[in-house]
Amino acid sequence: MRGSLLVDNIGELVTNDIGGEGGPLGIRRHAAVLVEDGQVAWVGPARDAPTADRRIDAEGGAVLPGFVDSHAHLVFAGDRAAEFAARMAGEPYTGGGIRTTVGATRAASDDELRATVRRLRGEAMRQGTTTIEIKSGYGLTVADEARSLRIAAEFTEDTTFLGAHVVPAEYADRPDDYVGMVCGPMLAAAAPYARWIDVFCERGAFDVDHARAILACGQAVGLGVRVHANQLGPGPGVQLGVELGAASVDHCTHLTDADVDALASTGTTWVSGFEPTTVATLLPGAEFSTRSPYPDARRLLDAGATVALATDCNPGSSYTSSMPFCIALAVREMRMTPAEAVWAATAGGAAALRRNDVGRLARGARADLVILDAPSHLHLAYRPGVPLIRQVLHNGVPQCRP
Ligand code: NIG
Ligand code: FE
Repeated sequence: MRGSLLVDNIGELVTNDIGGEGGPLGIRRHAAVLVEDGQVAWVGPARDAPTADRRIDAEGGAVLPGFVDSHAHLVFAGDRAAEFAARMAGEPYTGGGIRTTVGATRAASDDELRATVRRLRGEAMRQGTTTIEIKSGYGLTVADEARSLRIAAEFTEDTTFLGAHVVPAEYADRPDDYVGMVCGPMLAAAAPYARWIDVFCERGAFDVDHARAILACGQAVGLGVRVHANQLGPGPGVQLGVELGAASVDHCTHLTDADVDALASTGTTWVSGFEPTTVATLLPGAEFSTRSPYPDARRLLDAGATVALATDCNPGSSYTSSMPFCIALAVREMRMTPAEAVWAATAGGAAALRRNDVGRLARGARADLVILDAPSHLHLAYRPGVPLIRQVLHNGVPQCRP
């Protein structure tokens, strides 16, 4: 949108500007934000605000950076509501249902897959998500992984090749052959559409040797590393991620002291594209939907690790696109403070994607703003389940009101 836009009458502005005052969220009061050419052009006291072509009155609501959902699986067909119902009746979650979604995804047309991504992307945007990562991983053939990423790339820059989600049924008795295929023709077809590579490193999915081999092949063609690690039990995934300089290890539900130390050793903040922090991305929607114990966020934070929150939106373990829901879970169930949870859902997600153009509101950042129907960020956890997102600006463009 051309011309300048001033957002004022802000109850509380969350900037995540660590250089300034206002605690870890960089909170400013009586502030205004000027947007120009899709970027934040100025942040300062409302009384000093420059004139602008247009104005948005925040009506005393809090203004935050748009949420950064750094972990989502949106390219799939079908749902697994019956599997969810069985779990709520006592069945365990094993990840075995992934193959059900693989069957439905392979059978779907490009347009069906695209429609699902569009629907979920819209749903997330209406809940304040302005940056989202989207993984493949329900195709598991060369053609189906490539098309999943091609479709994902229509919606985001942060696309992730997850050909190593599970070993598909047709390779069940020859996993080495599948790993060879992932590293060879599948990676070659996927890489043009992918920024990241990911592996589900877990008992029943890929062991540490296979995971290391696949991630190294991805790195060799320029993809950044992320790992699904330590979700269903303790394992080597987190330490593998740290060893490979992963941007993020995700789930982190079952951690040893050595895992926590390894994550903390990579640093607490992410400042530039060259900081090697490995972020611990926690996905409480998965524990909610699988009725599992939540990850110990407090332990990670107290040790000095960098923590992000994301939805893990997928039809099996976490069919939510709502970052506010994840914030509320993190505060209530994972002993994060509301400020820590909001930071993790914005700046933390940006760190997990190694981006410094999103997740903060300062001059030069992308103009992704969420205006709440509430006076402070505290209300995101204090008023769970309430539609508090009044307005979203993405690239400086006001989105439809929910
Ligand atoms: O992140 N853990 C592996 N993958 C997904 C679950 C996928 C599914 O159950 O369909 C996750 O939770
Ligand atoms: Fe996941």
